[in-house]
Amino acid sequence: MHTVEQLKKAAADTAVSHIKSGMVVGLGTGSTAIWGVRRLAELLASGEIQDIVAIPTAVRTEEAARALGIPLTTLAEHPQIDITFDGADEVDPQLNLIKGGGGALLREKIVAQASLRNIIIVDDSKISPQLGTLFALPVEVIPFAWETQVTFLQNLGAAVSVRRTPDGEKYITDQGNYILDCAFTPIVDCYQLNSQLNGRAGIVEHGLFLDLATDVIAAAPGAIRHLKREK
Ligand code: A5P
Repeated sequence: MHTVEQLKKAAADTAVSHIKSGMVVGLGTGSTAIWGVRRLAELLASGEIQDIVAIPTAVRTEEAARALGIPLTTLAEHPQIDITFDGADEVDPQLNLIKGGGGALLREKIVAQASLRNIIIVDDSKISPQLGTLFALPVEVIPFAWETQVTFLQNLGAAVSVRRTPDGEKYITDQGNYILDCAFTPIVDCYQLNSQLNGRAGIVEHGLFLDLATDVIAAAPGAIRHLKREK
């Protein structure tokens, strides 16, 4: 029997096996990436890996890494990251991604863009023929005039809902912004949508991670697939 948590852990352990002593490491956020944070802490504690510094992609990841004794740094001190491991919500055949289910997409994209290698770790259920089939696209917007972004996104064809906490309050990101979850079911042209979202004032970032993943490690019961971006 393989639970989803066991699959997430298997993918995370495989990603962390690529980390070597002396590297600068990006720590992803979410229920899959946290397994990698824990594994990295184990390897540091046992001495199998030494002399690494890490850059977390969210406040909660930073707190977890600190509690586990992982040495932390910043992009100001280390502008180039050797390996980042992170989860994803959906992965297409070109290894393009939807991310941001956990709300950390802005910092995650900054860290991904600073990384030589981005290893994405997922259980197999997140592999999809076309982005937007399985997951709504998170779009991070500033609070000022956020309602106008809803109309803009609806005009692009999305069914839009503002993300809320279990208490019904608007979800606030680490940067103090809101998230609009946009169901396109599916996204017809992710590159065109990427340009449209990038060109809109008030949209800070969105969860389309195009041409950023170098590797995807997808765990299914009894098999771990390691997919690599074609150069
Ligand atoms: C965090 O903002 C996200 O990008 C996560 O990496 C993504 O939502 C995957 O999360 P899980 O590993 O918890 O499914």
